[in-house]
Amino acid sequence: MKNKILVTGGAGYIGTHTCIALHEAGYEIVVYDNLSNSSREAINRVSALIGQPIEFIEGDIRDAESLRQVFLSHQFFGVIHFAGLKAVGESVAKPLLYYNNNVSGTITLLEIMAKFNVKNLVFSSSATVYGDPESLPIDENSPRSCTNPYGQSKLTVEHILEDLAVSDYSWNLIPLRYFNPVGAHPSGRLAKTLMISQII
Ligand SMILES: NC(=O)c1ccc[n+]([C@@H]2O[C@H](COP(=O)([O-])OP(=O)(O)OC[C@H]3O[C@@H](n4cnc5c(N)ncnc54)[C@H](O)[C@@H]3O)[C@@H](O)[C@H]2O)c1
Repeated sequence: MKNKILVTGGAGYIGTHTCIALHEAGYEIVVYDNLSNSSREAINRVSALIGQPIEFIEGDIRDAESLRQVFLSHQFFGVIHFAGLKAVGESVAKPLLYYNNNVSGTITLLEIMAKFNVKNLVFSSSATVYGDPESLPIDENSPRSCTNPYGQSKLTVEHILEDLAVSDYSWNLIPLRYFNPVGAHPSGRLAKTLMISQII
């Protein structure tokens, strides 16, 4: 049986590219996304590019019952967690929305994962957790501190994951801290929303 991966936020920019890479690597994929910053068209395009329908569930990571149903229906090897809000300026204007979505949503996801004994997680953090770096280049051990609620929400989740890992060694938890990715799929069919509308 192929390993099955739940991709939260899999209809988004990085998520769609990741779905294709996972498929090419031989994984089965289930996408879970509330479409707050994406559309079904992205899922249609991923399906077309991989040559088979992708399993898509419209849902919110803060909705424990919806997530529970997903975990009841699938046996996951792990989760790649992209679902989140990511606009720094908006996070300053709406901090509660960002903490609710990014932090509470992740806690809900982790609780469901624990219940179903799915303990492999890649968390889409951000290089923003390094704040204003004291020196360059930044390496993985550079001090973390944040300058806005978006970054703080990512750093808070990182602390939660660190505490979880200490509490139970059976968790495999990896935060990915990347800078701003750019570019499109070579087919020209997948890119950031703005670029997709330009291609059409
Ligand atoms: N793009 C970047 O430059 C960048 C850099 C570093 C980290 N990140 C992080 O990587 C992740 C993906 O980024 P992206 O650029 O693909 O963003 P994106 O907005 O294109 O994708 C995020 C997806 O998550 C979904 N989503 C948001 N809240 C949700 C919720 N509560 N429940 C279910 N789905 C939800 C959105 O609908 C969207 O499809 C984000 O967590 C972001 O913070 C992005």
